[in-house]
Amino acid sequence: MPSRVLVVAAQPAIQLQIGNMLRRDGHDIVVAGDAQDGLRHWAADRPDLIALDDDLPGPSGVELVARIRQAEPAGTHTPIVLIGGGNDVDAKVRALRAGADDYLGKPVHPQELSARVRGLLARFARPQISARRQAFGRIHAYYGAKGGVGTTTIAINTAIGLHRELKRSVALVDGNLQFGDHRVFLDMGVDQRSIIDAVTATGVDAEVIRKVMVRHDSGIDLLLAPPTPEQAELVSGEQHHLLRIVEVLRTMYDYVVVDLDKRLDDHTLDVIGAADRLVVVMTADLSCIKNVRLVFETMAQLAVPDERLMLVLNRANAFTGISAKSVESVLKTQIAHQIINDYRSAISSLNSGAPFMANKPDSALSRAVMELARLVDQQATSSAELRELEFAGTY
Ligand SMILES: Nc1ncnc2c1ncn2[C@@H]1O[C@H](COP(=O)(O)OP(=O)(O)O)[C@@H](O)[C@H]1O
Ligand SMILES: [Mg+2]
Repeated sequence: MPSRVLVVAAQPAIQLQIGNMLRRDGHDIVVAGDAQDGLRHWAADRPDLIALDDDLPGPSGVELVARIRQAEPAGTHTPIVLIGGGNDVDAKVRALRAGADDYLGKPVHPQELSARVRGLLARFARPQISARRQAFGRIHAYYGAKGGVGTTTIAINTAIGLHRELKRSVALVDGNLQFGDHRVFLDMGVDQRSIIDAVTATGVDAEVIRKVMVRHDSGIDLLLAPPTPEQAELVSGEQHHLLRIVEVLRTMYDYVVVDLDKRLDDHTLDVIGAADRLVVVMTADLSCIKNVRLVFETMAQLAVPDERLMLVLNRANAFTGISAKSVESVLKTQIAHQIINDYRSAISSLNSGAPFMANKPDSALSRAVMELARLVDQQATSSAELRELEFAGTY
């Protein structure tokens, strides 16, 4: 796969010279004319490497390097080679201090640039993958420890909260292909498009997916489950249909919220493997505790890192004879968030097909779910924020 290199240079002659050198090595080139433009391209395209000229109008190349390092999400690193005017030690030290990985003085020798770029790409090959993932939307999967604990209720209302209050773009996917009930929860007829229209099209790509998404009144976009259980078979686990769709959706939205099926079939395992966050929903009873243990074991087998897991206790204040504290001590895991028990609100919003987060955002139940939405959103700098990055002050 060719690497994507962002070239930041003001003078067309230098843009052309550096661009051509790198193109000859088979890299894809994106060009920016100044630091602000470079910052935007870095956030939006997440290049594999940046080659930049220090001599820019407005903020300098060194300042751009520092700004990028400051905004970079933890655990990611875009390799940067800075091209400066001088070959003196001071210029080099300044560049490296700002966070550049390499420094070249002008005039740049094509072979040297090519070798340095190749070296940096090899050195940062792994972080580069995670850096690119960060630029896309996040996949948040919701999994119930057993049926009826409120997974669908929480997934739907969190998705709406992310959009309503935090202004994120959200795709909500009904991952229960046979008995998905988002149509009921969200008052959508069986005539609405569904995942079937995506998998029976010629190819799963952004154009196709865009057409099958259904806009909900709350402002989020839905990918509905097949209208009948038999049709679920058309969504192929072997061809990883659900995973492919979710991966396309993450390029189009800030968040892809997937309400997973309880069965740990190919689809569910695919999505769990790809998810940036797995929210496990439970209630405080023995069968849930037993199942959460099994879920944790499955996650370990799938090598899903612990920090991606988030345990949510639903109907937390309902009497079950088991306290949140004892759930935590038995599972040796902290409950990340608790949601109050309010059956009347939950069931009436289900019966009317009007989710409480959209209809009654100020209710206690909505507020409890909104806190969860904020929590899942807090984790790292989102792509939306990165896209809005600016240099502070005027130049
Ligand atoms: N916090 C809550 N308090 C009271 N009832 C709830 C709560 N969350 C969900 N419910 C109710 O629990 C039932 C099952 O919810 P659902 O979201 O369909 O669960 P799941 O998707 O896990 O099967 C529904 O009747 C729903 O209204
Ligand atoms: Mg459900």
